Amino acid sequence: MTTIADLSDADLEALRARVQDQYDAFRAQGLKLDMTRGKPAPEQLDLSSGLLALPGNADHFTEAGEDARNYGGLQGLAEARALFAPMLGAPPDRVVVGNNSSLALMHDCIVWALLKGVVGSPRPWSKEAEVAFICPSPGYDRHFAICEEYGFRMLPVPMTGEGPDMDAVEALAANPAVKGMWCVPKYSNPTGEIYSAATVERLAAMKTGAPDFRLFWDNAYVVHHLTERRHEILNILEACARVGNADRAFVFASTSKVTLAGGGLAFFASSSANVKWLLARAGKRTIGPDKLNQLRHVRFLRDEAGILRLMDAHRALIAPKFAAVEEALERRLAGTGVARWTRPEGGYFISVDARKETAKRVVALAKDAGLALTPAGATWPFGQDPDDSSLRLAPTYPSLEEVRAASEGIALCILLAGIEKEGALRRPELARPA
Ligand SMILES: Cc1ncc(COP(=O)(O)O)c(C=O)c1O
Repeated sequence: MTTIADLSDADLEALRARVQDQYDAFRAQGLKLDMTRGKPAPEQLDLSSGLLALPGNADHFTEAGEDARNYGGLQGLAEARALFAPMLGAPPDRVVVGNNSSLALMHDCIVWALLKGVVGSPRPWSKEAEVAFICPSPGYDRHFAICEEYGFRMLPVPMTGEGPDMDAVEALAANPAVKGMWCVPKYSNPTGEIYSAATVERLAAMKTGAPDFRLFWDNAYVVHHLTERRHEILNILEACARVGNADRAFVFASTSKVTLAGGGLAFFASSSANVKWLLARAGKRTIGPDKLNQLRHVRFLRDEAGILRLMDAHRALIAPKFAAVEEALERRLAGTGVARWTRPEGGYFISVDARKETAKRVVALAKDAGLALTPAGATWPFGQDPDDSSLRLAPTYPSLEEVRAASEGIALCILLAGIEKEGALRRPELARPA
């Protein structure tokens, strides 16, 4: 197809009329589809239903002979820490196993940093005149929501295809008010990017204005591959330690999208000093985590190979959904010049850059046709995408049939909005009011 910009006015109008008809036909089906949140599908949760029968009535003792039903064990069971240590890239004694949400751990770390400071803080962060965080954008909306909640200034930096723009990051990090940075280093939410070794090394080694700067290294998609290639990234904890910044990174992960999103395990891994810091705070808020769930996970997953096998089963269920979205985008939009999209090799999202100033219109068109999309701008700090072009598609939860139908609709909405925009640019007097 010729790009839309290359069409004559008459051809553009003919195309608009044709795509409008297709959109109307799509809308007339009266579908109800939802591609908003990256949740595992019920079939994915079923893969771990074996957990529900564990650890069993007489099987609730840990390897150390402790009764997992009782209080205690703040850092997590030794066998659970050993099982997940390779995934986190830290030895078991520098791993903490928490309850079901890594987001909760991240939130706690921010709140404790505000109230108490972190290792190396001259004072609690709340006593600083200003706290700012570097926010690679588009990024994870809930990271940004935490910053917004506590009044952090958010500093967006663009993604480059191999992680955030490091020249921009280094320039921002030199400011002492900048206390941290959000990183989703593998199969990033939502762009699917994988941080290159050079990016990881620069993040570990860069000079920071704040002596207590922290990388919030949210490795949420560490084992969530969508192809046979299991991508690996450089170990951030080792990279930081090598250059004398051992305390720089807080590593987070969870089994939310490995086992059960509402009943998994969350992890923190870092330097010994940071683990001690975290446990000192955590010990005031709990006597210990849910160790039965830890035991359940150890018995169910058994070893690293068990985790990889389970992730292969997830891949078999969700890779076709990603393929369906990509197929529809390719068929409807390739060569039109109205959109670019990612082809992620892992994670939970496809990120689409629609034509500038059309993302909100795409979401509105989709809504009108019974198709719920993540609000335009949601993946930017304060929900404000300066280009109004980012769309985040989350294909895991609906059935494959639903994903196919939704993808058709999404592609049509992106195309229609792009054509409308081109028409408006050529004939501003006909532009739709903002
Ligand atoms: C980047 C990222 N971090 C964290 C989470 C949530 O993790 P958890 O379920 O462990 O709180 C998500 C969920 O979508 C995510 O995309």
